[in-house]
Amino acid sequence: IGKNIIHLECVDSTNDYLKKIGNGVQEGTVVISEEQTKGKGRLGRNWQSKSKEGIWMSIILKPEIIPYKAPFITLIAGAAIVKALNNLQVPAKVKWPNDIIINNKKVSGILTELSAEIERVNYVVVGIGMNVKNLDFDKELEEKATSLYKENYCISRVEVISQVLYEFEKLYKDYIENNYKEETLRICREYSAIINKDVYIIKGDEKELVKCIDISNEGNLIVRDGNNNVQEILSGEVSIRGV
Ligand code: BTN
Repeated sequence: IGKNIIHLECVDSTNDYLKKIGNGVQEGTVVISEEQTKGKGRLGRNWQSKSKEGIWMSIILKPEIIPYKAPFITLIAGAAIVKALNNLQVPAKVKWPNDIIINNKKVSGILTELSAEIERVNYVVVGIGMNVKNLDFDKELEEKATSLYKENYCISRVEVISQVLYEFEKLYKDYIENNYKEETLRICREYSAIINKDVYIIKGDEKELVKCIDISNEGNLIVRDGNNNVQEILSGEVSIRGV
């Protein structure tokens, strides 16, 4: 991963860029852009990606797995980011399934997109956005978002990228080659921002208050609902917000 790096000055979205050339590039190709004009977040939101302020990058993967195993790759990316930041002495946590937070504010997010047929994956694009030097956020983000610099961690983007790719490659290889998930799960549990906490599970227009108990061996979130029933939430099915 990262043997082939495409470095752009400006692009609409690094995810869209890789999806356009997806079939023609080798697995592990990474696209990094200084700026994105149409950075995409999850659920159709946009992702503020000003020039040189953060890490806007996507990785293309071509795993020989069946599509239902693909959502776990988001957890691998989350584990890699949180591990990389902690290696660099940043006390980041992962908010299952795809947000990385520092001091309760989001510093990084993951957008995984899948191109698949019924029984096989063509490719997976893992998009990673990380706020590094941003000091100003749009009004609606101000209370929810932060950056490494804002939290007083002055680390270069290159250093973070190389740590993230290094950690990602180890966990990804283990998953694809050996179906080994334990290290990813261990990291997601150890650095979890939500285990033992109350969160809202948001399904479309409805939200439900639950207590997070654990992450299952499949990577799903295990919660206890208001009626004391244990539920397993599939990754990719819902979005969660702290109380
Ligand atoms: C989220 O938290 O909603 C996911 C944010 C993902 C943003 C990254 S930036 C690089 C890649 N290209 C995009 O257009 N989005 C992802």
